[in-house]
Amino acid sequence: VTKIGVLTSGGDSPGMNAAIRAVVRTGNYYGLEVFGIMRGYSGIIDNDIVPMHSRSVANIIQRGGTILKTARCKEFFTPEGRQKAYNNLKKLGIDGLVIIGGDGSFRGADIFSREFDIPCIGLPGTIDKDIAGTDFTIGFDTAVNTAVEAIDKIRDTADAHDRLFIIEVMGRDAGYIALHSGIATGAEHILIPERKTDIEELVASLQEKERRKKLVNMVVVAEGDEFGGANEVAKVVKERLPTTDTRVCILGHIQRGGSPTCLDRLIASRMGYAAVESLLEGRHNVMVGILNNRMHYTLLERAVKSKQKISEEWIKIVKILAS
Ligand code: F6P
Repeated sequence: VTKIGVLTSGGDSPGMNAAIRAVVRTGNYYGLEVFGIMRGYSGIIDNDIVPMHSRSVANIIQRGGTILKTARCKEFFTPEGRQKAYNNLKKLGIDGLVIIGGDGSFRGADIFSREFDIPCIGLPGTIDKDIAGTDFTIGFDTAVNTAVEAIDKIRDTADAHDRLFIIEVMGRDAGYIALHSGIATGAEHILIPERKTDIEELVASLQEKERRKKLVNMVVVAEGDEFGGANEVAKVVKERLPTTDTRVCILGHIQRGGSPTCLDRLIASRMGYAAVESLLEGRHNVMVGILNNRMHYTLLERAVKSKQKISEEWIKIVKILAS
């Protein structure tokens, strides 16, 4: 490899800039030419590709979002789109790609690197932490800390008014943001897609808390919860607990923005560095992850959405601590 391209794809996540910086600077260190590809795979198809140097990534390690912008590109999922992309890369002589994104982005890279002789390395960049083959995804720690800060603030006002709050956090069909932020804020209930939502159990528990005059209650709901998110849960709760003062708060995209935490900057830097090393070592078609504090390489086709079981122990801890 002599010329590599780096792109961010799918939903942005805090720490993507730190990863871009690491790719560019490690590439430069090893004498590679590095190109930044704008707006994910669309940038390859539209030839929106810019040379990057050490200075192009100055002052970005602390910034949220992605300086390369991001997109979910449908055209790349067509054979014609990928052919166009390949032709554009060939013209520039780009012979390696680093893709920072989630499982959808890896699926695209997997198909592409099977069809054409361009090695692709994936870096897990998503706030959802739903990728197999890594303990960390770039952005999760920041998102969860943002959620914690927000939920703490909601608890202040909930306490002042003796209210029940039903708070929805992101995560698509994974419950990690809900589980981690819920535990860290002392939520009374946490509803996640990995576990069946027993709405009757929730109602009974809230009624019992009402009897005990436990008046401040926080329910953290993952957006992908089978019940359909905070508004749906609130409908039932308001009907069954008509005297309880209930409010809904959907945290939404604030969870995707902001300056990355130290942990996200660290893993992004480590993974960005490892991506370039991987290309130089001749690896292709893998995602770089960190498992048990060591670099771990997963074939892109296996770096899919993880359906990890959430430990029942956590669920028990939530119940005991929120009593
Ligand atoms: O995958 C990241 C994520 O923020 C999910 O948690 C959420 O479901 C989704 O993206 C939202 O996507 P969009 O920004 O396109 O609405």
